[in-house]
Amino acid sequence: MKFWIILLLALVVFVSCKTEKSSDENMEINSFINELMAEMTLQEKIGQLNLVTPGGGILTGSVVSTDVEEKIKSGQVGGIFGIYGPEKVKQAQALAVEESRLGIPLLFGSDVIHGYKTTFPIPLGLSCSWDMELIKKTAQVAAKEATADGIFWNFSPMVDIARDPRWGRIAEGAGEDPFLGSAIAKAMVEGYQGDDLSDSKTMMATVKHLALYGASEAGRDYNTVDMSKLRMYNDYLPPYKAAVEAGVGCAMSSFNDVDGIPASGNKWLLTDLLRNQWGFDGFVVSDYTSINEMIAHGMGDLQAVSAMALNAGLDMDMVGEGFLSTLEKSLEEGKVTEEQIDMACRRILEAKYKLGLFDDPYRYNDISRPEKDILSKENRQIAREAAARACVLLKNDNQVLPLKKSGKIALVGPLADSQNNMLGTWAPTGEHHLAVKVVDGFIKNVGSSVQIFYAKGANIVDDPDYAKKINVFGPKVFIDKRSPKEMIDEAINVSKKANVIVAVVGEASEMTGEAANRTNLLIPENQKKLIRALAKTGKPLVLVVMSGRPLALTEELELADAVLFTWHPGVEAGNAIADVIYGDYNPSGKLTATFPRNVGQVPIYHSIRNTGRPQGSDEFQKFKSNYLDVENTPLLPFGYGLSYTDFEYANLKADKTKLTESEVLNITVDIINTGNYDGEEIVQLYIRDMVASITRPLKELKAFEKVPVKKGESKSVSFKISVDDLKFYNANLDYDWEEGEFEIMVGANSADLQSVKVNWSK
Ligand code: NOJ
Repeated sequence: MKFWIILLLALVVFVSCKTEKSSDENMEINSFINELMAEMTLQEKIGQLNLVTPGGGILTGSVVSTDVEEKIKSGQVGGIFGIYGPEKVKQAQALAVEESRLGIPLLFGSDVIHGYKTTFPIPLGLSCSWDMELIKKTAQVAAKEATADGIFWNFSPMVDIARDPRWGRIAEGAGEDPFLGSAIAKAMVEGYQGDDLSDSKTMMATVKHLALYGASEAGRDYNTVDMSKLRMYNDYLPPYKAAVEAGVGCAMSSFNDVDGIPASGNKWLLTDLLRNQWGFDGFVVSDYTSINEMIAHGMGDLQAVSAMALNAGLDMDMVGEGFLSTLEKSLEEGKVTEEQIDMACRRILEAKYKLGLFDDPYRYNDISRPEKDILSKENRQIAREAAARACVLLKNDNQVLPLKKSGKIALVGPLADSQNNMLGTWAPTGEHHLAVKVVDGFIKNVGSSVQIFYAKGANIVDDPDYAKKINVFGPKVFIDKRSPKEMIDEAINVSKKANVIVAVVGEASEMTGEAANRTNLLIPENQKKLIRALAKTGKPLVLVVMSGRPLALTEELELADAVLFTWHPGVEAGNAIADVIYGDYNPSGKLTATFPRNVGQVPIYHSIRNTGRPQGSDEFQKFKSNYLDVENTPLLPFGYGLSYTDFEYANLKADKTKLTESEVLNITVDIINTGNYDGEEIVQLYIRDMVASITRPLKELKAFEKVPVKKGESKSVSFKISVDDLKFYNANLDYDWEEGEFEIMVGANSADLQSVKVNWSK
């Protein structure tokens, strides 16, 4: 008893010390900023709201800032992106600190989306690991490398839920599910920011793109978004909220409109929801010229849209300079208030304070760091593990995989010897020449014990006009001078000499990403021809598919004996793929976005609602919700992925069948490794609320665990479910649960589940 009292007292003291410390800290920040702002002119305050880029890295719009140096010196810049390296950053910082009137340091930002120089798999690939520790570790490495190079503000994580693989930016997020997406958002923010933003190895994160950007109509980037509040709150908003709860320092507004109002000028979104409902206390930055783009949205001229953005609660203007050029006039005309300008300026200064810039504006400019911290052996090892863990094994008939480290293989396909497509989209700080090609990874792995015959077999795409659109950030597609037939013939000839064919096919890295949308989800036709010809040889055919989006692989899954989906794997591509193909790592990844049978099924996702006329069986039924030409089910469901071993699920048990509000339900299940390899299984738990006040999904992911199970062994996995897991936003947008019956489903993927039913009453 005594012990508990002492423990409780200690806890109370600890919590009150912490709150005292944070309120002391807040007072300190406030008084510092009050003093500084008292010195600042209106123009200097507006200057802090201006984010510029001199044009380094990847440009994502048609405008570039001009006279950057002069603007910094005259206090017209708050932050900058597109400059890298401790010395260069220091020089630019010195312009602000030593040559502007008040010496206020600048923020230095960048898009560090999946690693800085040590490039990890694209985020959609990384999400398929379902491994929060690993994801956090990749963010920590990214922060360590970026800060070594002078960058301490990251335009990541991108947490937009995406259920439409036509949209090129599906590659940048964690897929379709709000529960998994929220867990990943949290892991990334924690990884980037650590416990202390002023630590010179952590960086400030930016949750983006607020909001609903992934729901652009027709999968076309920047397009209109229109959805019900219920869908927003239940499906699309949770990952942004999770990032806010994890303490993210910055939020970026999106290009699209939300409920008819462009996000960058949407007061409901940026103030009522983000700040008032969720308690966000960082600053909001626009996307690249997204304030100016409200002119094209039909919101008025530059002055009107800039005032609209500030009024909505947007603090910093990325590249557009509408704030810089119009806010003073808007203030004179009473269209904005001085308090609003002060507030935006204060939020940016607060971030600078928390980053430790006022203590030492050059804290991220240690020139000895890049050599130690960037692309270290350990970092590359993490990238190799991450790339292996991102792989999803889609098919493995007759245990073709793993391959034996002997015999002869034909390694063919346009991505087998490609270096420029390994990093994937949005790797502006990565270096292609450091990426390990698949062919090199194989040679390194198997040495002389395997004879490898290589042939390109096909171009990534044959059409030069299409290739031009993909090659905007440097050459990714090289069109061979030989005819398609000559290339296929060569591949067939080398295949004849081999015991097995491994064909590395798929998308070039810039076939996904920003403004890289497709209306067709197939592997390009010229590569399909190669695959058909290879299948005809009768040799075992393994497809290694690289892509930034789910593809409609119906034909390939029929033709090949094995399919390994690797996404774009990052700098260690070849090594990681060889690790998986040769069994040094047993694949454990599972899909985080549903794979459709064809593009007509899009948008497609697992947490669908029933409709009043659900299609009950696989057979076509008239007057049911279905298609004439294809069944409703996806090609591959959310959560799907194979292993070289087999897992059996047994003894699913619920410890109670009737519960009241305060009770916790224990669900247990045994995972038995019945195959021939040690492996890891991602056990998934879904819940269906059988009767509710609004239509509810047939299943919602509510828990998961990745468990290692040795061959021949069995592991018991348990999940604790409470009423918090039953909550949803109802028609009044209250977040609550409703009593009644619930189906609890556990299994290997969203379409392979065992279930128990329980009753929960208030
Ligand atoms: C536009 C993109 O939408 C955004 O994600 C990125 O952070 C900015 N450009 C800056 O590069």
